[in-house]
Amino acid sequence: MQKEVRKSQLGLKGEVVAPADKSISHRAAIILSLVKGKSVVKNFSKGADCLSTLSVLKNLGIETKFGSDGELFINSENGFKAPEKELFCGNSGTTIRLMSGVLAGQNFDCVLTGDESLSKRPMKRIIEPLELMGAKIIASKSPQRHPELVSGSIQESNFTKVCFTAPLKILASKLNGIDYHSPISSAQVKSCVLLAGLFAQGKTTFTEPFISRNHTERMLEYLGAKISVQGNTVTIEKSQFEPKTITVPGDISSAAFFIVAALIVKNSDILIKNVGLNPTRTGILEVLQEMGADIEILDKKLISNEQVGDLRVRFSELKACEISGELIPKLIDELPIIALLATQAQGETVIKDAQDLRNKESDRISAVVSELKKLGSEIEETADGFRIKGKSKLKGGVEVESYHDHRLAMMLYVAGLICYEPILINDFEWVNISFPDFEKLLEDLI
Ligand code: S3P
Repeated sequence: MQKEVRKSQLGLKGEVVAPADKSISHRAAIILSLVKGKSVVKNFSKGADCLSTLSVLKNLGIETKFGSDGELFINSENGFKAPEKELFCGNSGTTIRLMSGVLAGQNFDCVLTGDESLSKRPMKRIIEPLELMGAKIIASKSPQRHPELVSGSIQESNFTKVCFTAPLKILASKLNGIDYHSPISSAQVKSCVLLAGLFAQGKTTFTEPFISRNHTERMLEYLGAKISVQGNTVTIEKSQFEPKTITVPGDISSAAFFIVAALIVKNSDILIKNVGLNPTRTGILEVLQEMGADIEILDKKLISNEQVGDLRVRFSELKACEISGELIPKLIDELPIIALLATQAQGETVIKDAQDLRNKESDRISAVVSELKKLGSEIEETADGFRIKGKSKLKGGVEVESYHDHRLAMMLYVAGLICYEPILINDFEWVNISFPDFEKLLEDLI
């Protein structure tokens, strides 16, 4: 579907409630399915990714249904059964990687598959630790989607490398705990290993270079599992825990599109309610503070062991900044919209250490650079990020591509609000992956 977006004349005004957090919704459905009993998830995300998780769980014998208030009822009284067909994870990296952890230690075989994009994403990062635990996994081999990045330069010869990808055939196995030091900071890898640890003999310990989002740890702690955290290290063991109602906070990664829209469209002043403010996700707020953004955090509270609050955001004159190191995992999904923001900040913004952006739903480094350039911004691709010069006038008046990537589609829509000429976004429907109501909610503010 092609979408036309025009310049906003009056600015964004009013109130909006952030849509349910995608990461926490996946975890709530998966973790509550591991408890034998009936449970409820309030404010479960209706994005296509989270529905992929429910479909996988259904094929494993878990009953789920939505109530009249949008709450999700989960019936896992009979536990898992061997699936009769392949488990299709759609576009969702979180579904395939977390479910691989859950399924590695079961007493049945299964096959996890995905759509075209998911089938190209690297799975070695989870296969390696799971095999060390004793899992048996047969992966497909695909040509590597992106050239390996060697000391900051893209080397042609590495185009021939192969990558372990979905479909993943997971055979029945008995697992042992391990002490794993992950080379990358990834919440999907960490959660995969921790969930496998719930089915392993002995303790499983996971250490990562910088802390990534910790929703799995917080949720398991909330439900009473045997889990402990020390710095960047988490230890887990087989645990009995009780079904409990989980309320999902709003998604800061979705709210980020409204935050940036309000900051860059003149005369904006909005309130975004119920935003998840877990400190492992609020890297964008740290960066915005440094850039001089006018943002207030109001009404902070704890819901189901996760911090939540409201954000008041007003149009601001911004200055450039540098984003790297331990900040990256705390704002990894916000980098496309932060790149747009940087085009409107005075000076040169440099984003480094974000090479894993090339392994997302699209190669988000080259996709962001190519599309923002078309709109008229001064942005340059580096091996592990971007260099962006601001403040630029975005002329628009062109067609741009979503790359079948929800975060690209939404970033481009926000860009359209400040372009001098209308823009056309191709394949805009991919917003449904995380935020089906994106346009409706944004239109209410315009
Ligand atoms: C996610 C973790 C991140 C993030 C993804 C969701 C999660 O991926 O980009 O959108 O729910 O655990 P990585 O673990 O690959 O960094």
